[in-house]
Amino acid sequence: MRRLDSTEIVLSRRQILAASAAAGAVAALPGQASAKEGASDPSSLAFRQPEHTIADTHRVAAGHQAQVLIRWGDGVTADAPAFDVLAQSAAAQDRQFGYNNDFVAFMPLPVGSLASEHGLLCVNHEYTNAELMFPGLTLKDKTEKLTREQVDVEIAAHGHSVIEVKKSGQSWQVVPASPFARRLSALTTEFQMSGPAAGHDRLKTKADPSGRSVLGTLNNCAGGVTPWGTVLIAEENFDTYFSGDPKKTPESVNHIRLGIKGKSRYAWSRFHDRFDVEKEPNEPNRFGWVVEFDPYDPTSVPVKRTALGRFKHEAATCVTLADGRVVVYTGDDEMFEYLYRFVSRDPIDRKNRRANFGLLDHGTLSVARFDKDGTMTWLPLVWGQGKLTPANGFASQADVLIDARRAADLVGATPMDRPEDVETNPANGRVYVMLTNNSQRKPEQVNGANPRADNRHGHVLELTPPGAGKGRIGRHDAERFRWEILFLAGRRADGATYHPANETYGAWLSAPDNCAFDNRGRLWISSDQGSHQRTNAIPDGIYACDVDGPGRALVKFFYGVPRDAEMCGPAFTPDNRTLFVAVQHPGEDKDSTFDRPSTRWPDFRPDLPPRPAIVAITKDDGGPVGS
Ligand code: FEO
Ligand code: CA
Ligand code: CA
Repeated sequence: MRRLDSTEIVLSRRQILAASAAAGAVAALPGQASAKEGASDPSSLAFRQPEHTIADTHRVAAGHQAQVLIRWGDGVTADAPAFDVLAQSAAAQDRQFGYNNDFVAFMPLPVGSLASEHGLLCVNHEYTNAELMFPGLTLKDKTEKLTREQVDVEIAAHGHSVIEVKKSGQSWQVVPASPFARRLSALTTEFQMSGPAAGHDRLKTKADPSGRSVLGTLNNCAGGVTPWGTVLIAEENFDTYFSGDPKKTPESVNHIRLGIKGKSRYAWSRFHDRFDVEKEPNEPNRFGWVVEFDPYDPTSVPVKRTALGRFKHEAATCVTLADGRVVVYTGDDEMFEYLYRFVSRDPIDRKNRRANFGLLDHGTLSVARFDKDGTMTWLPLVWGQGKLTPANGFASQADVLIDARRAADLVGATPMDRPEDVETNPANGRVYVMLTNNSQRKPEQVNGANPRADNRHGHVLELTPPGAGKGRIGRHDAERFRWEILFLAGRRADGATYHPANETYGAWLSAPDNCAFDNRGRLWISSDQGSHQRTNAIPDGIYACDVDGPGRALVKFFYGVPRDAEMCGPAFTPDNRTLFVAVQHPGEDKDSTFDRPSTRWPDFRPDLPPRPAIVAITKDDGGPVGS
């Protein structure tokens, strides 16, 4: 294994993947053909699929193991008390693994290495299900019944966890009392603002007259990893935490555009004024950003990078240009919202890792327009250009970034079917966009890139920057790309367009959400149908397909989540011999409660509710997962 001084190296994700692909190829070859499901199966994916049904527990492809690594309430920091579900406290939760794990990043140790058996696992905690966390609550009555301490447990259960993990044999363990172990929480962690909107009047509150210091992060969904080894975590549905009538605030147009509607899904504003927009109208403007932090320094202050715009960020994934500048793709996950791209002004400093910590503060944010001729255009969101002027209420670039959705409307971006994860394939340089669904799209609103009305099952878009192709990353800063649809999801009767052999060798999926690429450039998709999983009768989990060659868009089912969960976070180790996944909200259903949950995964103890957890998947023969 190559070991590098942390101050001297910046590895691009592509370099890491290319190096580990070479390392992984040897073990991937033997037995591959014989493990296929049929002699004429055109897919390169050799695993035997588990039963494609919904069940109380999880299940994985034959020849693999799925090990529960860490669950909600397990200790993170050295001083964390043991989990006691009937005696929860905010102080304990602030030290324990949070709720509803989402994005997962495996960050090798030491920093800059290609280690695959020792690293940091960086995990988002997106939201909470109070009715599953505490006894005596239902979905309907919880906001009135929750106590102050329970609300503070919920707030502390949001954010992020950093744990140190090690593999021994086939098994992964959390390293106890690791110096890297850390919780970022919405209750106690201070975040800094940086970039063009930092310090703006619209970010100032009573508690923070500087407009530069925010307590907490909210609804951290997916994320990304920078080439210099920091982690990006995306703030998504922050609107759901705020109560108060937005029309009674000077920010009414902004708040309503972002979904604040006077009634919160949470009880937080009963005890914390900052979650009431009538009392603190600017507080929502301090959320909806992409946050960057350094997991290798447990004392580092996480920073909200305003140059990447404010909306309901699903993810933030990086690719490095030939000249060293960095591109970040990020989607706004709501029906009829947009796909965005940020291009940094400056190149990476490859000699000094820390010199890159401000790189995402300067650059150009653009939004995508898809045309029916198969081209797409990136439209810059730059103050003073086109309609982004004082005449339309934009007094500065800070306004453009705070009101990025409204700016995107004005430049003519294409409303999409809920852009979730976006990833660049290191093998062919193309960009893949998960569009999860949009049941509100009417027949008269369809367009080439969003071609189905009442799109209940979603689709995957493939974007090709100029110059991208086999082994070529392409020009991700170009104004124009080409696009095509990789497949429309659902069943055949829903108009799905998988590979023709999908009926024989593959499986249907619905609602693609997060994704990852393995070292061979194959696409691994996690799905999230929400409450539609039951009516669709399609299990959520991990699905995988080739995107090049004869097996293109032949989708196979690899791992199924337990009942009423969604699948998040797929993250491979550099050698692809472990795939980490996040099981989010097991047992979330309208009648499911702490007292009567729809599943008690993963403990299956009568005194414990279901617990969101991270699962480590390995192959029995030690080879690359799914090889
Ligand atoms: Fe948090 Fe769009 O999923
Ligand atoms: Ca998601
Ligand atoms: Ca989703």
